[in-house]
Amino acid sequence: MPPLNQTPEWKALAAHAAALKASRIRDLFASDPARFERYSVEGAGLFLDFSKNKITEETVDLLIALAMARDVEGARQRMLNGEPINVTEGRAVLHPALRDFAMRDYHVDGENVSPKVRAEREKMKAFANSVHSGVRKGHTGKPLDTVVNIGIGGSDLGPSMVTEALKPYWIKGRRTFFISNVDGQHLCDALAECDPETTLFVVASKTFTTQETMTNAASARKWFLQNGGDEAAIAKHFIALSTNQRAVEAFGIDEENMFVFWDWVGGRYSLWSAIGLSIALQVGFDNFEKLLKGAHAMDEHFRTAPLRENMPVMLALVGVWNRNFMGAAAHAVLPYDQHLHRLPAYLQQADMESNGKRVGLDGAAIGVETGPVILGEPGTNGQHAFYQLLHQGTDLISADFIAPAISQSESGAHHEILLSNFLAQPEALMRGKSEKDVREELVAQGYAKPDIDKLAPHKMFPGDRPTNSILMEKVTPETLGALIALYEQKIFVQGVIWGINSFDQWGVELGKTLAKAILPEIAKCGEEKSAATAHDVSTNGLINRINTIRGA
Ligand code: F6P
Repeated sequence: MPPLNQTPEWKALAAHAAALKASRIRDLFASDPARFERYSVEGAGLFLDFSKNKITEETVDLLIALAMARDVEGARQRMLNGEPINVTEGRAVLHPALRDFAMRDYHVDGENVSPKVRAEREKMKAFANSVHSGVRKGHTGKPLDTVVNIGIGGSDLGPSMVTEALKPYWIKGRRTFFISNVDGQHLCDALAECDPETTLFVVASKTFTTQETMTNAASARKWFLQNGGDEAAIAKHFIALSTNQRAVEAFGIDEENMFVFWDWVGGRYSLWSAIGLSIALQVGFDNFEKLLKGAHAMDEHFRTAPLRENMPVMLALVGVWNRNFMGAAAHAVLPYDQHLHRLPAYLQQADMESNGKRVGLDGAAIGVETGPVILGEPGTNGQHAFYQLLHQGTDLISADFIAPAISQSESGAHHEILLSNFLAQPEALMRGKSEKDVREELVAQGYAKPDIDKLAPHKMFPGDRPTNSILMEKVTPETLGALIALYEQKIFVQGVIWGINSFDQWGVELGKTLAKAILPEIAKCGEEKSAATAHDVSTNGLINRINTIRGA
């Protein structure tokens, strides 16, 4: 296989991009009144408008040709067939199996895994219902109205993002804390608000070895024992979500209180598995199931829609176009919905841990840019913070604007104002403002010529910044599920185009190993330590400085 940038499809796109460079997106709109219909797709309750990108029919044809040449359709089938496409870990990638309500069977190494998936979902349902009905109580007989989810990365971001997004669906009187950071303040702050008699600790970790989670879980256990609980009561207050039964048992949680998933579920793709139990506890199992059904609807669309009308495929291809051919350094995810405020953080892990890679499946350097930096904040907050750089900075940043037409909590004119901003920003980013317009405006405002000369360069907007708009009727469990699956499959398609293994994350390992080596070198408060010498002078110097402060 030639390197990606030497393939005829890539070269054709590069030549086409060079030819298109001088044209402007707003001129493409002026010359094509059907642009909106032409460059929008619909599916699973979502509508994607990608017309505000610098693309023409030729661009789309060339991108589809690239997708065909990279065998996106074949890769999709290999994933769904349960082949070990996570080649560096020898694992299948089958999170779609967790939400397949078409009763299809999925196989891994010849084993039909679907009955296990359904059985575990039933166990989750029974557990959630028993907590909600009060059948399952704390050790003193009080109802368990508080959940503390202890997990990090994929064992935190998915459940916490979804739980926040579905706030209107929260069961009255229930609350959930998501504790991820090993910074003890995170756990302490939550425990200060918890009653040990009514709190259920959900220890969520695929490996059950993650330092942060194990440290927080051990501290939570200690707090529980120091506050009226005893060893016999642990079973009523601690449950585990994991693939590692032995480690769960070693922690003191027995099989009955463990909810399992499997190594073919990647951590950042795991909210559909037992890892979603905290969601079900907060919003009810029915709503959790609706979330899964929404994701399934997007999977069905992804599986069956022709590439040109396939939302994840088109979102991925336009992303590749902007990243590799238009030079976008980063990609902003901008939900115009306050309840989606954790979506950018969630997608940072989903995208950057998946496609932040520099070598391809064969171990050779890919030779083109891969996953972009993902950033974002809910609109309109971001507008008053970093949008300045989107509009006038020197880097090109592409963006997805996401909004529901109807708010979960319609309150007077708020949502109309929000929507007007959701629409105005992409329009402004695309249109820009010419020097001529700026000068005319300043003249009309009565400015003198020397002031106009001084101000005009600062007040003009280059425009021509590419954006997508994703619209849904309302944020519901179903549309949220579809939205998450849209991004998961987009990330998958981009990984296939770039020739990446999107399902490993070796890049997180080195820092973990070094932290373990440094840990014994950090002084406990009041302890004297000899000078650190094992590292570079910067790291030694910082350790010594910290130890001087802590030892004093
Ligand atoms: O360090 C990265 C990572 O492995 C993520 O991929 C994962 O989601 C997170 O840590 C948590 O892992 P675990 O669920 O095994 O505790």
